[in-house]
Amino acid sequence: MSLEEDKKFIWHPLTQHQLYPENLLIKKAKGVILYDEHNNKYIDGIASWYTCMYGHCNPSITKKVASQMSELDHVVFTGFTHEPAINLAKSLIEILPNNQNKLFFSDNGSTSIDIAIKMALQFHHNKGVKKHKIIALEDGFHGDTFGAMSVSDLSIYNGPFSDYFLEVVRIPAPDKKNYLKSIEFIQQLAKKDDVAAFVYEPLVQGAAAMKMHSAKALDEILKTVKALNIITIADEVMTGFGKTGKNFASEFMETLPDIICLSKSLTGGLVPMAITSCNNAIYDAFLSAKMEHGFFHGHTYSANPTSCTAALASLELLQSESIQKNIKMIQKSHENFNDKIKNHSKVKSTRQQGIIYALDYNIKSDRYGDLRYKLFDFFMSCGVYLRPLGNTVYILAPFTINKNELQQIYDAIEKSLEII
Ligand SMILES: Cc1ncc(COP(=O)(O)O)c(C=O)c1O
Repeated sequence: MSLEEDKKFIWHPLTQHQLYPENLLIKKAKGVILYDEHNNKYIDGIASWYTCMYGHCNPSITKKVASQMSELDHVVFTGFTHEPAINLAKSLIEILPNNQNKLFFSDNGSTSIDIAIKMALQFHHNKGVKKHKIIALEDGFHGDTFGAMSVSDLSIYNGPFSDYFLEVVRIPAPDKKNYLKSIEFIQQLAKKDDVAAFVYEPLVQGAAAMKMHSAKALDEILKTVKALNIITIADEVMTGFGKTGKNFASEFMETLPDIICLSKSLTGGLVPMAITSCNNAIYDAFLSAKMEHGFFHGHTYSANPTSCTAALASLELLQSESIQKNIKMIQKSHENFNDKIKNHSKVKSTRQQGIIYALDYNIKSDRYGDLRYKLFDFFMSCGVYLRPLGNTVYILAPFTINKNELQQIYDAIEKSLEII
């Protein structure tokens, strides 16, 4: 096994291999630490894209999964069901916003979005109505499958495919200044009665470099959209499971979504899985004597028992006293760091929502410009794994991180101000 063989055989995601041919070999991960092949340590400051929020290889999860693996590995989820799925469904419905009634399983965040869009389009279709437009937010990112790419607004990901997309109309991420104009725009748009759904990342747009927006303004938009019989789809793939300060970002608004998309930390980073949850109004629209009114969407690994077990173990951890205590500690710690750093001349702006913290450097840079790579290498040299985007660096560390490890991240960010 060598890195030469990696180069020979592997095509990595989101990578221009001609410009950036090198990859670092990670040998193991434990808690918040990643270890490379030379045993160098890196604090995982972004929880490996917001997945392993309870620390890498958390034994409370791995033990249960190992035991499940020798009991029932996988079975078709059409015509069969199993305990891990039923137990997970019961526990998840208990903590989801209280209008959510049914769960539909899939494999990753992108497919959970495609499923939500298909549910919305077929909801109208089953009622004999053709609605095809979708409203989405500017700068949103929802994944890489075709439905998810259609509603996303970041062109490096979806630019080459834009001629083949669903019809999407965009409004800006809501704030106090723009929301009335957006409401007026949506009301005009809906006069043709062809708007099927509104898709949004509630409060924090992750891939847009943790852009944050107003809960109050978003709630006003949601009220309008609901009144117009447009189905609301909250993409909580990133924001779900405690990162925003509540279990789900949707809880910050009075108006609850019809559909919620979940993945990433759903399984604590151990195995892939996604869920699209919905309320009974959506589910009931698929009940019919006509076979074709059913939802004929299914992935081979739907509700894989080991994934369900990992998700249930993760949910238990999320609700544990120690994790809830640490979430509060991280929030407070970010606030203190922010007080110290926010007025630095090289800091343009900062923002925080729960344990998500972002800082914009006072310098212009493209999303994948040179600054990003310079900062990335600098942070790695400090033993901290952070992935800056454009002129933004953000922290979204596992809930299990301790004060010293957090301080190491803050020190690295503070020092990075000297190299830009
Ligand atoms: C908000 C949001 N939605 C959807 C996705 C897509 O998820 P996946 O990469 O699992 O397909 C992402 C991935 O980063 C995301 O941040």
